[in-house]
Amino acid sequence: MQISVIGYGYVGLVTGGCLAEAGHQVLCTDNDPARIATLEAGGLPVYEPHLDAVLAATRHRGHLRFTGDSGEAVRAGQAIFICVGTPSKQDGEADLSAIDNVARVIATEARMPKLVIEKSTVPAQTGQQLKRALQVYGRNKGGSFRVASNPEFLREGRGVEDFLHPHRIIVGVEEESSERQLRDIYHPILERQFQCPVHQPDCPPSERPELLVTTMNSAELIKHASNSFLALKISYANVLADLCDRLGANVEEVTRAMGLDPRIGPQFLRAGLGFGGSCLPKDVQAFIRLAESAGVDFGILKEAERVNKRRIDQFLEKIRRSLWVIRDKQVAVLGLAFKPNTDDIRFAPAIELIGRLLAQGARVRACDPQAIDKTKAIYPQLFYSPDPYETARDADALLITTEWQEFRDLDWQRMRALMTRPLVLDARNLLDPAAMQTLGFEYHSLGRPDT
Ligand code: UGA
Repeated sequence: MQISVIGYGYVGLVTGGCLAEAGHQVLCTDNDPARIATLEAGGLPVYEPHLDAVLAATRHRGHLRFTGDSGEAVRAGQAIFICVGTPSKQDGEADLSAIDNVARVIATEARMPKLVIEKSTVPAQTGQQLKRALQVYGRNKGGSFRVASNPEFLREGRGVEDFLHPHRIIVGVEEESSERQLRDIYHPILERQFQCPVHQPDCPPSERPELLVTTMNSAELIKHASNSFLALKISYANVLADLCDRLGANVEEVTRAMGLDPRIGPQFLRAGLGFGGSCLPKDVQAFIRLAESAGVDFGILKEAERVNKRRIDQFLEKIRRSLWVIRDKQVAVLGLAFKPNTDDIRFAPAIELIGRLLAQGARVRACDPQAIDKTKAIYPQLFYSPDPYETARDADALLITTEWQEFRDLDWQRMRALMTRPLVLDARNLLDPAAMQTLGFEYHSLGRPDT
């Protein structure tokens, strides 16, 4: 099928690349000249494992093309995926102006019937507004439009894997023909009719995914409901960690035992610095606002958000208790990205933490395998190194703020020798407290008894 994708962000590039991998003819477009130039030069505007290989292979086979001409992309696609950003407005509500702009372009450029698919995360009822906008903007232009909602469930860092091996595909439709077309689009993925480019064991074959057909409103709601529920789980685990700290229990033992109950499940119960990234914080806010505008008080979500905002304060308090005075102390920060395997620092807890440390007069040295360049744009004054050993040199304290595997695998004896004071505060519970004690560290983590 001829498919167009509008938006070159994580979602758009993964969607375009993977649909091309599945055998479709895909044309991607974006209105950001810098992103277009990067892609034209064979680069990637974002770091996402396996995406470079997928894009290179599908372009080589002639299945994937990029264009800066959005009109060309609209005219080419029988189905058009909207993958533009929906950031938060000041009050937390989703800003849908990019969707509105895209609707105008599609409506004015289309000459034939199109299936327009929302992949961007949007509040319920956006599909209805989009349908109206397409009709209004496209009056007398010759196109006709069906709208569908097909939310994405891609985790950054595992986007390619999640797209090609999904647990579920949700299609919110109003016409049978839209359902048929979306089934055709996903047929190769549902039937596994492609060579998976992700190497084992990164991507073990999962169960055959379920394609669930719903109304558009439900499909839109499913996305917000899922992300918000994940946020609730994380905040629950974080409050448990606080309780464990006070009562001398171990949050990992508690959550492992809880997770063995299939009604609870083991995932998203890792205590830490709280949820960050471009999705969970924004989606929780947008869901709260959506509920409010519908006259429903989503109090538990407000509480999950409040717990999340407190995480940095609580960790800072731990740092202050260990260091006593923060001013002029050399603090090594391992981890800038909001989670491992990405260069994304949007709403990354480490970024806020660094700002607070700098405000208190700390001298910060920072390390991350992928996110240094992006962080430099915010804090140009820091000492950066991709080498954790160099970062730890002469540190009065070392903070672990993103759980990269590289940090777990460090030679911690060597790290200790480099530091002025062997103090480690592990905000991701990455390391083993007993092993760190044996190595002579003063080691603190979250919700696990201190050594
Ligand atoms: C999230 C969802 O997991 C995806 O299903 C969804 O498609 C995506 O948002 C989206 O809306 O596009 P993502 O933002 O990539 O994916 O990251 P997650 O893996 O969900 O992690 C979010 C945050 O929660 C991270 O800061 C992570 O460190 C934190 N987290 C996660 C915890 O603190 N504890 C956990 O147990 C799990």
